[in-house]
Amino acid sequence: MQIWLDTANIEEIREASKLGVVKGVTTNPSLVAKEGDVDFRSRVLEICDIIDGPVCAEVLSLEAEGMIAEGRDISRWAPNIVVKIPTTAAGLEAISVLSQEGIKINQTLCFSVNQVLLGASAGSTYVSPFVGRLDDVGHDGIQLVADMVEVFSKHNIKSLVIAASLRHPLHCVAAAKAGAHIATIPYKVLMQMLKHPLTDIGLTRFVEDWHRLVKV
Ligand code: G3P
Repeated sequence: MQIWLDTANIEEIREASKLGVVKGVTTNPSLVAKEGDVDFRSRVLEICDIIDGPVCAEVLSLEAEGMIAEGRDISRWAPNIVVKIPTTAAGLEAISVLSQEGIKINQTLCFSVNQVLLGASAGSTYVSPFVGRLDDVGHDGIQLVADMVEVFSKHNIKSLVIAASLRHPLHCVAAAKAGAHIATIPYKVLMQMLKHPLTDIGLTRFVEDWHRLVKV
């Protein structure tokens, strides 16, 4: 399972990229807005400069025509851009037009297997089930990831499943066990994945023991 970062914050992307584990970045309008007064295109280009892998930027139009125009424009910003399109009827129309032009699509706001079956058929390169948001309303987000992976595998569907809206390290383990191809996570969760108190305690003890022996 690849690890992608779900943020539009440049410092977080810089820090995380040093670890050598981040293979892509997803953004969404809320994450970009959280950054304050930044120009969307410039921010996405900055991210593309840091990350070699796919960088996902979302269209804002709600109508197919607008999504298609925006998608074409965004896709020209950098070679590693993936256009995020929401799961609506207009979105499906845009996905089918843009994917036929060779533009890579991340179908976003996915909450059912049926939605991603349609998206995959329209040409989505990636589909993004929002795990945390389903958990928030009492549904099992990880079960949805497992169902999508199973159905895609059974029918030899090539679209990749990005487990999104992951909120904590257990979500990452569960997404991996469910067979997600990619997990996109906030920076905080990435650092939580790395952290273990026994690693810190063990390291402190090694260093103390070394110095004690060297002194003797
Ligand atoms: O990738 C989708 C993600 O940004 C949504 O996360 O925590 O707002 O549900 P959240």
